[in-house]
Amino acid sequence: MTLQKILWHPDPHLKKKCSEIGLVDDVTRALADDLLATMYNAPGVGLAAPQIGEVKRMFVMDCTAKEEDPFARVLINPEIVWSSKETSVYNEGCLSLPEQYADITRPAEVRVQYLNRDGKEVEEHFDGLWATCAQHEIDHLNGKLFIDHLSSLKRTMFTRKMMKMKKERTRDE
Ligand code: NI
Repeated sequence: MTLQKILWHPDPHLKKKCSEIGLVDDVTRALADDLLATMYNAPGVGLAAPQIGEVKRMFVMDCTAKEEDPFARVLINPEIVWSSKETSVYNEGCLSLPEQYADITRPAEVRVQYLNRDGKEVEEHFDGLWATCAQHEIDHLNGKLFIDHLSSLKRTMFTRKMMKMKKERTRDE
């Protein structure tokens, strides 16, 4: 288990459509463990593989935000198979855009099909923060960030702030 560096927007890895994982093997599970450790350490409630530079369709989430919690989910090749008509608004943030938040409207509930850590096919219904988080993370696998749901003016504003923060981060390293 290794703590990985979380990439910050703008970064080319965060703009890519990630590729499907063909086989859930020990390499896949090692990536899942790195994602979980890195997410809990941040701390955050969700983290997608491209955020640590692995352009693969996998993310982890735990909206209870408790370390080593049995509620931690590993979702491989996730697909939304149903979304509610009812929407909800959540003030979203992202570990790739630290300290940036915006209200994003999404379906309030979703049903997601995915492979779990053991390669078993699962279909799960999510609501509340779990539904928001799952959709936010699946966006990551398609090269999309929460700011891509905003107007181009607001998006540019966030990107400028992040470029400044990135410059400072590079200087501190
Ligand atoms: Ni994110």
